[in-house]
Amino acid sequence: MSVSMVDLQKVHARLEPQLTETIQKVVAGGVYIRGNEVKMLEEEIGRYLSVPYVRGCANGTEALTIALMALRLQPGDEVITTTFSFIAAAEACALLGLTVVFADIDPKTYNIDAKEVERLVTPRTKAIIPVHLFGCPADMDRIMEVSRRHKLYVIEDAAQAFGTEVTVGGERKKVGTIGDIGCTSFFPTKNLGCMGDGGAIFTRSEELHKRICTIASHGAEKKYHSTEVGLNSRLDEIQAAILRLKLRHIDEYISRRRGAALKYRKALAGNDFLVCPQMTDGHTFNQFTCRVNYGCRDDLRAYLTSRGIATMIYFPEPIHRQPVFGKYNDVALPEADKASKEVLSLPMHSELTDEQIAEVVEALNSWEIGKK
Ligand SMILES: Cc1ncc(COP(=O)(O)O)c(C=O)c1O
Repeated sequence: MSVSMVDLQKVHARLEPQLTETIQKVVAGGVYIRGNEVKMLEEEIGRYLSVPYVRGCANGTEALTIALMALRLQPGDEVITTTFSFIAAAEACALLGLTVVFADIDPKTYNIDAKEVERLVTPRTKAIIPVHLFGCPADMDRIMEVSRRHKLYVIEDAAQAFGTEVTVGGERKKVGTIGDIGCTSFFPTKNLGCMGDGGAIFTRSEELHKRICTIASHGAEKKYHSTEVGLNSRLDEIQAAILRLKLRHIDEYISRRRGAALKYRKALAGNDFLVCPQMTDGHTFNQFTCRVNYGCRDDLRAYLTSRGIATMIYFPEPIHRQPVFGKYNDVALPEADKASKEVLSLPMHSELTDEQIAEVVEALNSWEIGKK
């Protein structure tokens, strides 16, 4: 048997025949861009997340770009974000001429080290972008506190964490609804994924929402009357219809991911060379990312591959080490550097069976260091 990282065919097979009917309904309806499906999805996501304003858009990267534009950040403004993530947030900043300031990570959660953030604030800092990496909530209590103290905007990158919850100021909240703007991605492998590209932007501010909508529509509040330079960033009707169907099952998807994580953690507890991710309360385990001790991550990965078990390295290089951000190469971000050499993500999705988990665990627990 082999075990893959994800099994989207199985997720979608479980949704039949409604899935095909839903797509056929859109095809027959003849409205493919910003029709009823997108509007309904925006409302339903708003209800699920308890956030008043939601705007669907083309993907998670554009969601972040639009968020930065909506806050009227200007070239030279500094934005603090994590170096240990997918590149989208840093890229969106660079594209707009903003100065990215990379923060190191908390080695236990792999999320931005909230204590570091305050140290990096300068008079030019305008915003913080925490990423809820792998589905694990960032330390929002502390980040919000720093943002209040220094009057900074907070844009949450919740691309890997749709449905993740965290307690902030004593209140339980879904991530993406805590800062000024939240962004997510509906890339197929995300907690809530479509069958192509998609994303969404959340806010509690009507004014910001209006700006987000304008920017996402060529900077035009009224059709063919642009008041500023914007983007064309749309979620289409077919993707929205698919997402509406999957949104009805999101709590089940999340609870299956958490169930699989619990089983992995229990079965791997005695494994000396593997450090499992923390099981925080609201974690949705978009990824199950372990740390491999003793410098043997790549050997272990090769062994798992030989046993037919897929793994991934998220991320083999922190962003500040990638050539595009070459001018940051000398910045000392040791925890992120260390993590990129030690992390290994195991198969994780809502359809993992007990047999598949047992197979992964058996391979991990039978591996001896030095064995290739
Ligand atoms: C943390 C994070 N942010 C942003 C994105 C960008 O989303 P998209 O691929 O939809 O542009 C991703 C996608 O992988 C991501 O993982």
